[in-house]
Amino acid sequence: MPRADVESAQTIEPAARVAGNLQVPGDKSIAHRALILAALAQGESRIHGLPEGEDVSATVGCLRGLGVNLQRSGGAARIHSAGLRSFATPHGPLDCANSGTTMRLLLGTLSGSSVSATLNGDASLRLRPMARVVEPLRAMGARIELHDGRAPLTVTGTSLQGRRHSLPVPSAQVKSALLLAGLSASGPTTIREPIATRDHTERLLRAMGTDVHAAGRDVEIRPSHQPLRPIELAVPGDFSSAAFWMAAAALRPGWSVIVRDVGLNPSRTAFLALLRSMGAEVNVDGLSAEIEPRGLVRVTGHSLRAIALGPADVAAAIDEIPALLALATQAEGTTTIDGAAELRVKESDRLASMSDGLRRMGAIVDERAEGVSIHGPARLRGATVESHGDHRIAMALAMAGLTASGPTTIEGADCVAVSYPNFFRQLREMAHAS
Ligand code: S3P
Repeated sequence: MPRADVESAQTIEPAARVAGNLQVPGDKSIAHRALILAALAQGESRIHGLPEGEDVSATVGCLRGLGVNLQRSGGAARIHSAGLRSFATPHGPLDCANSGTTMRLLLGTLSGSSVSATLNGDASLRLRPMARVVEPLRAMGARIELHDGRAPLTVTGTSLQGRRHSLPVPSAQVKSALLLAGLSASGPTTIREPIATRDHTERLLRAMGTDVHAAGRDVEIRPSHQPLRPIELAVPGDFSSAAFWMAAAALRPGWSVIVRDVGLNPSRTAFLALLRSMGAEVNVDGLSAEIEPRGLVRVTGHSLRAIALGPADVAAAIDEIPALLALATQAEGTTTIDGAAELRVKESDRLASMSDGLRRMGAIVDERAEGVSIHGPARLRGATVESHGDHRIAMALAMAGLTASGPTTIEGADCVAVSYPNFFRQLREMAHAS
């Protein structure tokens, strides 16, 4: 059954030109956090600009399942809460659907609560690694059962003790889960990351009156004796969704796209520098902002050259790598990505999914355990390719399809409903046949 009115097979015609300006759905990383933190505050919070995608709806559904009074109307939500102590044990399992952020952040939140809950998800989420978040939470005293390192997970809230964590993998989801657990723990919780990741949780926590300090790769939270203050937040457009349009503009000299009102948090925008080093022209008109910076980005294509990415680049642009791989097929030289094993445990194995799709279109791709190389420029041909149930793969292969010599059909493309239900409609407005 097609999801959110998106046909499950989508055909992309070769484009003579990509041009236009647009807005993308609200940032899902910020939206999940704002909803969960609003549920932990005492009083009424208002959030605007929420994305319509299924991932954020999963967070809304889970919070309601925990008894949170959350009214949603399109992109606006009003949350009235009395904090963590007002959560209720849900009647059945909480469905996190395809959303790793929902599952990992709720796990941290519920570890220090007084309720028990089972968190489950779709087939993809049940394959994703959960020990990385369960183990440090257990070290704080959390009571969590899991199945062979994976969901479904059952958490029984208990009292937690703050401690120092040193994370082996850079993960904003794990860091955020530990910060949320740290909120209700006794004593401070410190998290050291191997590479700094997105800091949306920290920014929101501070705006809500919590004592959170970041220094280099360390972040520390002290449990709050005061309840969190409610928030009023307008969620900016999702940089990771906007990245597909930036990549589309960069594909050919003279193609150009403007994305308005997009989130410009520096911990998310590394892809802009990668685009520049590949040769694209990138102009940013940032507006200062209360909690999360936002602004306008214009990208204009020029001839592209290959680049080499290491582990720090991959961590900083983790969700933009599929789009970058599509772009690399059109760059002069060999683009290499190393230290990218994390891409294998996303909504699909993104190194394998992109290698499969791009090869079917005629690209020359070398896949390694922890990376991939793409030899460009390739003359791509239209083909039938697979999303592997992964929204970012469907959108990245659509980018590649714009430069192919014939139509490209993406099977299972309705998974874009996870983050960007309107993606293919907007693509038809931005890509011109002549
Ligand atoms: C996210 C963090 C990243 C990212 C995901 C969203 C978040 O995952 O890939 O799309 O909202 O914290 P990891 O924490 O697993 O790296």
